[in-house]
Amino acid sequence: MTTRIDGKAYAAKVRESVAGEVAVLKERHGITPGLAVVLVGEDPASQVYVRNKGAQTTETGMLSIEHKLPVDTTQSDLLALIDDLNSDSSVNGILVQLPLPAQIDAEPVINALRLDKDVDGFHIGNVGRLWTGGEGMVPCTPLGCLMLLRDQLGDLTGKRALILGRSNIVGKPMAALLLGENCTVTIAHSRTADLPVRCSEADILIAAVGRPQMVKGDWIKPGATVVDVGINRIEKDGGKTRLVGDVDYDGAQGVAGAITPVPGGVGPMTIACLLHNTVEAACRQNGIDRASLS
Ligand code: GUN
Repeated sequence: MTTRIDGKAYAAKVRESVAGEVAVLKERHGITPGLAVVLVGEDPASQVYVRNKGAQTTETGMLSIEHKLPVDTTQSDLLALIDDLNSDSSVNGILVQLPLPAQIDAEPVINALRLDKDVDGFHIGNVGRLWTGGEGMVPCTPLGCLMLLRDQLGDLTGKRALILGRSNIVGKPMAALLLGENCTVTIAHSRTADLPVRCSEADILIAAVGRPQMVKGDWIKPGATVVDVGINRIEKDGGKTRLVGDVDYDGAQGVAGAITPVPGGVGPMTIACLLHNTVEAACRQNGIDRASLS
């Protein structure tokens, strides 16, 4: 039997806990955490993400601030907005939705964020803190994967983890987090030699390469825990599309010990962790011990 890891249900629990913390922050400290989301242009997928983020921010009792800028926004206009948000005390977290239009260089924009307002954890200073064991902001998708793994497995010490994918947003920060949990970590990618063999050695397999159903059932170690970060739209018979992950979910049945489905696995955890990070940011900026809120 393969357990289906219900990320949708777990994300609802995280949001509930965040809402409780926000209520205490308001009552006891007079603070309403604020999250500013900046969207440049009209990319349809980004518009959906931003709408969902705004709705869930409000649902948990926080202040949602949206800045929608035209597709021809200049680098200096965007940097000027970041400056304003950095010094706005009602804003505890800032997220610049990626990808940005071609005329904007994302790196200096991300690195212009105040380090303690970078709720995405993409600022070079937060990347450094993650790798050196310091107190930084942790990127939302890897944090969500880690929460699901801890809930499923408890202590991860000594587990062999293979991360398939080396992106700055998922693969690399995931490796840092799992090292911090005392796992033995391998980062693999599309050019790794003997990839099926490497996968089959892993107690924990994180798939984040963006290739539909690439990981086959017989690549998986029997009993392994599989976390599928992929969200790929594929054509079904009859021209309709459906979402699949980077793992062949049906092929993994009866082999994996547990696996996250797509949709309903890692996806809902990303926004839940963004809200979690926004509360963390509000606490740190106001010198409040988060543990005292629950
Ligand atoms: N675009 C897709 N995923 C993300 C994310 O996690 N953060 C930001 N800022 N943009 C994204």
